[in-house]
Amino acid sequence: MSISTVVKAGLCCATLMGAGVAAAAPQQAPIVVQGAMSSEIDTLIKQLKDAKPMTIGKWQFWQGQLDGYPVIVSKTDIGMENASAATALAAATFHPVAIINQGTAGGHDPELHNYDIVIGKESINIGSFKTPFKARGEGTHADTWAPMDLLTEEEDTSDKIVDKPMRAFPADTGLLKAAHRAAEHYSRGKVVDGVIASSDVWNNELDRIALFHQQYGSSMEEMETAAAAQIARGFNIPFMGVRVITNNATNGSQFEPATSEASQLFTTDIVKAYIHQLKR
Ligand code: 5AD
Repeated sequence: MSISTVVKAGLCCATLMGAGVAAAAPQQAPIVVQGAMSSEIDTLIKQLKDAKPMTIGKWQFWQGQLDGYPVIVSKTDIGMENASAATALAAATFHPVAIINQGTAGGHDPELHNYDIVIGKESINIGSFKTPFKARGEGTHADTWAPMDLLTEEEDTSDKIVDKPMRAFPADTGLLKAAHRAAEHYSRGKVVDGVIASSDVWNNELDRIALFHQQYGSSMEEMETAAAAQIARGFNIPFMGVRVITNNATNGSQFEPATSEASQLFTTDIVKAYIHQLKR
């Protein structure tokens, strides 16, 4: 069996990845669950059996078990760069069978209220655009900016703006299935499939939020998911984002940090459902 076959089957050998080969006993490849802030991972860590902390650079991980299956909680810290680094480290160090990024978010869809959950059927990067040329005094017009695809190999050095579609990172279908299972038991709000929009900007301008919602279908915004999705894709690791509404400027829902617990408990149910799927 090749290494990739072993990893796909949810199994991997620590020593197989290193020097020794044939005699190593197979271990299960872990599921990694990410959160940016302490308040977004503390409940997850409590769910783990025998959680052991580990730090690589400044990024923290807790290795433990859930329902007898290895699960690693990762504190990515805030923002796209931190999320990218934490995802690359998790991928190269633990060879996970799947990665879930979860936590808090602000609504772009006025129908969403605090404690509602968005299962990220896809995520997009709303910080990556190319602006058309404007002379001094012509102002800044965000509605004319074109998405820049960070996955293209070639550098686009022209001044021209061509209508480019927004790059979307779709969720893994197995993880989506597990999330839909978990949704059957969520009672603190509604659960919808939607688009998670990420960047290093916290937007409060209602016209700008409406533009993202109408033009790119964003359900909510936060600062990590699309970055983690892009890096997970680079390692061919199944990925999904899931977020709870913590604030929504479009309908006046005030920032409520306690919602982060709901995201973690919902994600715990997703992980349990996914483990069930892996074991079958
Ligand atoms: N805009 C951007 N990020 C948000 N977060 C919660 N709500 C929002 C919002 N409206 C999350 C980000 C980041 C932290 C600042 O909070 O994902 O981790």
